[in-house]
Amino acid sequence: MVPQWIIEKKRDGQVLEADEIRDFIQGYTAGRIPDYQMAAMAMAIYFKGMTPAEIAALTDTMLHTGDVIDTSAISLPKVDKHSTGGIGDKVSIVLAPLAAAAGVAVPMISGRGLGITGGTLDKLASIPGFRTDLTEKRFIEIIQACGFSMMGQTGDVAPADKKLYALRDVTATVPSIPLITASIMCKKLAEGIDSLVLDVKWGTGAFMKSVAAARELAESMVRVGEAMGKNITAFITSMNQPLGQAVGNSLEIIESMECLQGQHLDGDLMQVTLRLTAEMLQLAGKASSEAEANDILLGLLRSGAAFECFKKMTALQGGDPSALDDFSKLPTASIVHDYVAPASGILARVDADGIGRASLVLGGGRQKTDDGIDFAVGLSNLAKVGQTVSKGDRLATIHANDPGKLDQALAYVRDAFAIADAPAPAEPLVVERIGR
Ligand code: URA
Repeated sequence: MVPQWIIEKKRDGQVLEADEIRDFIQGYTAGRIPDYQMAAMAMAIYFKGMTPAEIAALTDTMLHTGDVIDTSAISLPKVDKHSTGGIGDKVSIVLAPLAAAAGVAVPMISGRGLGITGGTLDKLASIPGFRTDLTEKRFIEIIQACGFSMMGQTGDVAPADKKLYALRDVTATVPSIPLITASIMCKKLAEGIDSLVLDVKWGTGAFMKSVAAARELAESMVRVGEAMGKNITAFITSMNQPLGQAVGNSLEIIESMECLQGQHLDGDLMQVTLRLTAEMLQLAGKASSEAEANDILLGLLRSGAAFECFKKMTALQGGDPSALDDFSKLPTASIVHDYVAPASGILARVDADGIGRASLVLGGGRQKTDDGIDFAVGLSNLAKVGQTVSKGDRLATIHANDPGKLDQALAYVRDAFAIADAPAPAEPLVVERIGR
């Protein structure tokens, strides 16, 4: 194979054969094809796209550059959920123990936050002692003991993606549907799952800024999952305002634990969580309808079974489960400041992007992959779009450890909220479901 001939073919909009894709990606992963040729190929894919068969071949090749976790020792149906990421998106932390308590095995490999988008691993790391750097053997043992485990990507999973993602990041080739599809799906398929539920976010705080773009990505991922023999469903959900009432690592753990104890059932966070978890139960054959699944899930929340399941997993991963009952044991910020409504009216906008930026400047997120993170900072008590407010009512509580950073965050928070005389047009939280 001559790499430049394959690049030329894609540059001219032709369809690549599966073995051309395989040779190219394997060559790049092994160091035989240099970064500059892979960068040219990524840019050709960015402009010319790929057919579903090409995307499936790319995903399959990237998956098999690394290990696929052997989950055969787990007899329960294995189902995971993946979100394309958002602000205040703590769904995984509530959903995984909830699904596990309902008899579904959830082998969840999660990521760290980057930019304004939070990451499940950072949220979990705010629990004292909690470890996400597990061996594959320990990961399986924990799933066998309590139904789920949440860990970070090991060096052995999809090394092609690790190398290619870093290259895409610096060559302006991240926002390509074929490349995003292969990148996400190769890592999820490496978990050894039977079924997958995808939460594809659209909106100001999401990667995909329109429903149409989110739909295109969702359809692409569902096609690849099906081509690889998995049961897969995608939901398109809104990320124009933060999900739930808290943004920031330990603050999101607190909100998640409240949800696992049956609180906030009417809020947006639990609406999305219940919809996705109900789908997982149906894919796993644990319920035959959404209504039946919801009955099971509400029972597990009310009985405390889902919360106990999370505490058990926390202990097995080295964390202190007593911090989940006594939140004073979680990292706590030294400055707590209420931001109040400057006028009376109806909340027309709580911009997810602005709130994400506020959390980032407080130190709750990272701008570069190796940046440190402050687990204690962020925002809580976030008011929601559509709420009627009077001048002086609290719209958010800001948690900071540095007065200068609090001032920077306040500038973003002020711009994020808009108060109007009339309600904004209602926007669906779950826009649509894609899949069989
Ligand atoms: N998340 C990933 O894992 N890969 C992408 O390409 C984009 C988002």
